[in-house]
Amino acid sequence: MFTRKMSLWAVLGFITILLAGFHTAVAQSGAEQKQQSLYDRLGGLAPISVVVSDFIEVLVPDAVLNANPAIDAARKRVPAPYLKYHVTAMVCQATGGPCQYHGRGMKESHAHLNITEREWDRMVTLFKEVLAKHKVPAKETQELLDIVGSTKADIVVAQQR
Ligand code: HEM
Repeated sequence: MFTRKMSLWAVLGFITILLAGFHTAVAQSGAEQKQQSLYDRLGGLAPISVVVSDFIEVLVPDAVLNANPAIDAARKRVPAPYLKYHVTAMVCQATGGPCQYHGRGMKESHAHLNITEREWDRMVTLFKEVLAKHKVPAKETQELLDIVGSTKADIVVAQQR
């Protein structure tokens, strides 16, 4: 016999199951958020390629950087689309995306440019401006700056001029 007492238990049981399912779903979505790579949080390859392209567009003609004759000579010789391709692949890989960087190492590709601390700082300023223009959030901006910063020791080789 399905008594009133039994149906109350059935309702309570059903609510318990619902709540347990809800908690599991919330816990899972929290874990997924935690696991999301920087690459995913930036929106993947398309937005990354746009940000890199804009960055190279402001870097290549910059007067502060081109006051260094080695940088000026290299930017005239090396096509901007080549730099955009390699830097996009590098950022994609470094942020946890599916790309593989096949370019040269940072030491090898920058040694002849005699890059100083001041030129490095200028590059960081330009990079931050591009990230701000694209409304990259503070957390993701900091993570990108950390990735770029990790290459500094290989890139800055010259004393101030
Ligand atoms: C002040 C800072 C920087 C300046 C002025 C600069 C400028 C340049 C120039 C002129 C080249 C072409 C060199 C050549 O082939 O003769 C180059 C190559 C490259 N740079 Fe930079 N760069 C800077 C920092 C960075 C940083 C921070 C990254 C990445 C985290 C980066 C990634 C690359 C890559 C991937 C290449 C191509 C490597 C290859 O040819 O295989 N650069 N850079």
